[in-house]
Amino acid sequence: MTATEPVHPPTAADDDESNAEAVISVDDLRVHFQGKAGVVEAVDGVTFDLLEGETLGLVGETGCGKSVTARSFLGLVPSPPALPTRGSIRFRHRGENPDSLPTVVDLLSVDRTTMADIRGNRIAMIFQDPGKALNPALTIRDQLGEVFLIHRSAEVLVGAGVDPDANDLGSRLLRRAAHLRDRWPERLLLSIPPFRARRTALRASIDGLVADALAETQIPNPAGILGRYPHELSGGMKQRVMIAQALACNPDVLIADEPTTALDVTVQAHIVQLIGELQQRHNTSVLYISHDLSLVRRVCDRIAVMYAGRIAEVGSADEIFHRPKHPYTRGLLAAIPSQSSLRGELAAIEGTVPELIDPEPGCRFADRCGHATDMCGSADPVLAPVAPDHAVSCFGYHPLDDAELTRPSVDPLARDGARS
Ligand SMILES: Nc1ncnc2c1ncn2[C@@H]1O[C@H](COP(=O)(O)OP(=O)(O)OP(=O)(O)O)[C@@H](O)[C@H]1O
Ligand SMILES: [Mg+2]
Repeated sequence: MTATEPVHPPTAADDDESNAEAVISVDDLRVHFQGKAGVVEAVDGVTFDLLEGETLGLVGETGCGKSVTARSFLGLVPSPPALPTRGSIRFRHRGENPDSLPTVVDLLSVDRTTMADIRGNRIAMIFQDPGKALNPALTIRDQLGEVFLIHRSAEVLVGAGVDPDANDLGSRLLRRAAHLRDRWPERLLLSIPPFRARRTALRASIDGLVADALAETQIPNPAGILGRYPHELSGGMKQRVMIAQALACNPDVLIADEPTTALDVTVQAHIVQLIGELQQRHNTSVLYISHDLSLVRRVCDRIAVMYAGRIAEVGSADEIFHRPKHPYTRGLLAAIPSQSSLRGELAAIEGTVPELIDPEPGCRFADRCGHATDMCGSADPVLAPVAPDHAVSCFGYHPLDDAELTRPSVDPLARDGARS
């Protein structure tokens, strides 16, 4: 294995690369905001696939649209100020039992009930800002207890000495839990007579599972924080509560938006390991958003590089790190701290990300690019293949007079089933 190959545990996608299907297909996604000074084109024509069981890294400088893209998956972009979103985000989710056919929905147009089911049940997100993601009115015990009750009810019942298969108590509990979400746990327990008698055992079982999940994130004194509210925790602790919550759901898709920014390096390594274990257990697809290219290089199967609201380049981790094509990607890679940077030779990309307010046509990187030509300042390049598992949006590889040049409707790499 070379230093650049993924080091997390292999997933089903690794075992069966040619059959890895897209769980999520983002197609020409456009999220624009109405600002006082004009329209901010935060995400403008983003297209990529997230394959089953893979980890896809989404990288790029601050403000380039990574979080807005991710939040669009779950209908969490506030509108207004966002203008109506365009494009599609097709989600192919698994049925409840192994024999049911996958169902495809467009996350941009599902109704609220369907989205409520998808959020948390099927797609979980670790937010960049943990402070906003936790419910301030619920203790840690209650926020995570609900997750265990709904997603891991069999374990809860077994822990309380109840045989989940012996009667329909488990399913009754589940139905109640879904219905009474915000009133968990007191009212729920008391509303079902057979559980009333077992209240102490059930609470102990849930507390045990929640404390174990928190302990896995290496949070100090997990049992001691069960009764605390989010505002009583530090940023790093809140981030770990959110991670425990997201992992406990066994989601089909995990969106991890800078999941370890508030954590020190050893805890970060452990969290990455936990995400890898979730993938092995549940074949979860992970969208891993990060500024940290060294980390992305270690954990991701494929990488999408975003610049100023668009995908500059997408491909296998091997292609992106060994054969980067886009001048922006090359600049990012040159800026990775290395031995040379310790000697004060850190390369940085000159200039800054442009204002995205009513941008002129043309490649958005042109002003910072050492290879820009007249063509780059006047027309938009499109994402097109340069290798079986690699596509780039740059006139340097696809000049405008190329008759074959057409905008792909899906990530061309994923469509070909090509992976590293
Ligand atoms: N609610 C909003 N209203 C107006 N503009 C917004 C809103 N949310 C995001 N934006 C704008 O969208 C652009 C992309 O923001 P986004 O948060 O997706 O960047 P990012 O790539 O996640 O950056 P970072 O790496 O710093 O997290 C920015 O210009 C930002 O100012
Ligand atoms: Mg962000």
